[in-house]
Amino acid sequence: MPIGATEFDQRCGEGVESTAGNRMPANPARLLIADDQRDVLEALRLLLKGEGYAIETASAPSGVLDAMQTREFDAVLMDLNYARDTTSGEEGLDLLSRIQAIDSTLPVIVMTAWGSVEVAVEAMRRGARDFIQKPWENARLLAVLRTQVELSRVLRRSQRLEAENRLLRAEGLPKFIANADSMQPVLRLLSSIGPSDANVLITGEHGSGKEVVARTLHGLSARSSRPLVAVNTGGLAEGIFESELFGHVKGAFTDARTDRIGRFELAHGGTLFLDEIANVPLSQQAKLLRVLESGEMERVGSSQTKRVDVRIISATNADLDQEVSAGRFRQDLLFRLNTVEIEIPPLRERRADIAPLALHFLDRYSQRYRKPVKSFDPHAMQAMLEYAWPGNVRELDHSVERAVLMSAGELVRVSDLGLRAGREGSQKLEELSLEEVESFLVRKAIDRYSGNISQAAEALGLSRSALYRRLQKYGIGSS
Ligand SMILES: Nc1ncnc2c1ncn2[C@@H]1O[C@H](COP(=O)(O)OP(=O)(O)OP(=O)(O)O)[C@@H](O)[C@H]1O
Ligand SMILES: [Mg+2]
Repeated sequence: MPIGATEFDQRCGEGVESTAGNRMPANPARLLIADDQRDVLEALRLLLKGEGYAIETASAPSGVLDAMQTREFDAVLMDLNYARDTTSGEEGLDLLSRIQAIDSTLPVIVMTAWGSVEVAVEAMRRGARDFIQKPWENARLLAVLRTQVELSRVLRRSQRLEAENRLLRAEGLPKFIANADSMQPVLRLLSSIGPSDANVLITGEHGSGKEVVARTLHGLSARSSRPLVAVNTGGLAEGIFESELFGHVKGAFTDARTDRIGRFELAHGGTLFLDEIANVPLSQQAKLLRVLESGEMERVGSSQTKRVDVRIISATNADLDQEVSAGRFRQDLLFRLNTVEIEIPPLRERRADIAPLALHFLDRYSQRYRKPVKSFDPHAMQAMLEYAWPGNVRELDHSVERAVLMSAGELVRVSDLGLRAGREGSQKLEELSLEEVESFLVRKAIDRYSGNISQAAEALGLSRSALYRRLQKYGIGSS
């Protein structure tokens, strides 16, 4: 389930077209209107609803502050005079300051009685964005609101963009290769739950493709036009965990010089990818659980509760059930995360994927490095198929990149791949082909005699020219 789906309805009034491009949801602008005169509130509600705004009203300053604690608005339109003191505007000015303390980016437009320009000027001095004199002129009121809503959306969006730019962003749907039988359950799950809002836990060894699966899930979902925000939860120091995830307000702690948006808010409407979830310390797990349960959070140092609508995809290479048994991971948090679990098999258990993956990477790197490498020679392919790939797809990716850089011709050779022998999964001599054994022995001899061809040839029982031919064949440098 998504957490905290927004209550905004989806109509979009013509007066409030978003200027923020198509990545903003087509939400109507939300206005909070405050006045202690019912007839004024009614008249404004009628006018502005007709223009497509979503309206909420308050008849006293306390109502404004209450509404702001739990909901977000695009602008506030407020009278300066309230029951307690109907002329000086002090109560209104006080309210203005409080609104700004809660959210400095929220535009406030004040309304004043005809002839009380001094109070209006004072309100502007204290940060009101504009003022309207009563009785208002509809055209001016609408123009002022439209400008302020657009400005605030642009301002808030640029704040978001700046933060998003520092994050990995999905560039469309990633290439996802899955031919092996053992990958079919993964594919079935991707297509069935991708489009849903279910929280998904992805498990698998290092480099097996957890992040690609997360990006594919997001790309398949209705949220694909909204951001996928990735955060390595395991890599965050305790002290900055909350601030990274939930953001902070200026002054919340010594280094908090400006307001900062956290990853949850950045991912609003989209997907939050919590990587290395098993490494989140217990103390922080409780904080995470609360947002997942309630869909509500506060920035550090702020008392304003924000609702966030975020789909959670998490990933780990640990066994979370075991972590729960060992008391290192909260079971209630696990239950929130693993509505659906996708387990990615290691590459050694899906050998049918090795060749297509290798060719996919070959294509990528031959283009990137502008090298005319077209394919793998049979021995190289054989070696890749037999290798254990302890580092999974990432290791294959890196090996092919290296091979493309090393390769001198159109075909990648075994030696270009640099597969590490002697590691877990390295082949036994009797499983190698004759040519692989020959290439191995030639290489050894060259190494032993420090590139001296005559000595190496003699040790191998070959003529110098026969050795040269083999060096060329296996792409071995002699010095
Ligand atoms: N099925 C796949 N098809 C295409 N590329 C893949 C596939 N699986 C993985 N890759 C590529 O392999 C590399 C490693 O994948 P990824 O980063 O998703 O692994 P991971 O499981 O998140 O690793 P880690 O545990 O180290 O975080 C990436 O470059 C990714 O694009
Ligand atoms: Mg990863």
